[in-house]
Amino acid sequence: MNIKQFSLAAVVLAAAALTHPAHAVVKTIELPPDGAQLKPSPLPGYAKAQANCVACHSAEYMLYQPPTAPRGYWDAMVHRMKAVFKAPIDDADMPAIVDYLAKTYGNEQAK
Ligand code: HEC
Repeated sequence: MNIKQFSLAAVVLAAAALTHPAHAVVKTIELPPDGAQLKPSPLPGYAKAQANCVACHSAEYMLYQPPTAPRGYWDAMVHRMKAVFKAPIDDADMPAIVDYLAKTYGNEQAK
């Protein structure tokens, strides 16, 4: 390989190194198709959760909670969103939202 071929190869490799990691990064942040949205449910809390729980973050946050999480965990979570992050959740809507979360993402999921 003469010097001209060598530097050409180096340029090609450098270009590959530049484009490749960028590609890999794009791949790793790709979301699972159904993770970004709340799981549909006939429960009344589903619509309320859609209205109250995905304004600040995606439904991924629910998906990544332990599926063993009991109702009290979800209740605390909903209250925490309101108390800590000032989520404008109507207290009257909370029980329905907690019910939906426990049955959809927590330990009350249908087996
Ligand atoms: C006002 C904005 C806002 C709203 C509305 C909101 N959240 Fe959050 N939520 C946050 C923030 C901020 C975090 C923390 C993000 C972080 O740590 O990266 C968070 C985190 C979470 C997490 C991850 C676990 C944790 O404790 O950090 C869950 C689960 C969650 N929210 C559920 C909900 C549910 C359920 C609702 C609806 C009742 C809701 N959120 C509404 C702002 C909000």
